[in-house]
Amino acid sequence: MNTPALRTTGLSGGYGRFDVLHGIDLEVQPGEAVALLGPNGAGKTTALRALLNLVSHRRGTVEVNGTDITSYPTHRIARGLIGLVPEGRRLFLDQTVEDNLRLGGLHLRRDRRRVDALMHEVFALFPVVERYRSRPASALSGGEQQMVAIGRMMMSDPAVMLLDEPSLGLAPLAIDAMAAGLAALREAGRSILLVEQRVDLALQVCDRIYVLSGGRIVEEDVAASVGGEGRALIDAYLG
Ligand SMILES: Nc1ncnc2c1ncn2[C@@H]1O[C@H](COP(=O)(O)OP(=O)(O)O)[C@@H](O)[C@H]1O
Ligand SMILES: [Mg+2]
Repeated sequence: MNTPALRTTGLSGGYGRFDVLHGIDLEVQPGEAVALLGPNGAGKTTALRALLNLVSHRRGTVEVNGTDITSYPTHRIARGLIGLVPEGRRLFLDQTVEDNLRLGGLHLRRDRRRVDALMHEVFALFPVVERYRSRPASALSGGEQQMVAIGRMMMSDPAVMLLDEPSLGLAPLAIDAMAAGLAALREAGRSILLVEQRVDLALQVCDRIYVLSGGRIVEEDVAASVGGEGRALIDAYLG
């Protein structure tokens, strides 16, 4: 067995006194793309945020490449361990595309060559991001902004990449471009955990899926084997 890029065991936690997550066990192997599916309110965003210690966990562990990071503060996790493309992108709209990208690699800023190399990777994946690098992020379309958000996450060179509903609110063509970018990241051997409402997109990009419902993993499967019946099951869970 390989050491997983990401592993949680019995992760429970939430807001205040109320647990949203109830004993989450999940794994992402190195180079694997895994989808986390589930209906609205299932706890998907909470789970991603808990991995970064943005939401407190009461029980359980989080490991990255075999290192127990359960008690690491968020800023330490964000330095190359786990990268997050948050729900709604959260770009700095009045800053340039390039400044938004550089924010993702802030902890590497003394290593200019590494920052340049990472930015080159972003530009190779999304040429439009390079074309608009000097424009304010607000001047870009929703799909282009999502590419910047993914690029900013890439700039931290994380061991594990988390994406929270990157297709949300995008036009069909923009979703295709974004999905192609994710597929390329997977091809490049990145370890990815993708939260998606669009089951078709998730099955297209990912090797494996988990279905989360009521803060529990209720289904786990290989994406390629999710045929008619499995698909119906997932659709049922998604409501
Ligand atoms: N900041 C918060 N404070 C309190 N409860 C929250 C907060 N954010 C989400 N919740 C609750 O946690 C549950 C899971 O939400 P969330 O993780 O956003 O689900 P999903 O991303 O799967 O739609 C919901 O019941 C939601 O109301
Ligand atoms: Mg969510």
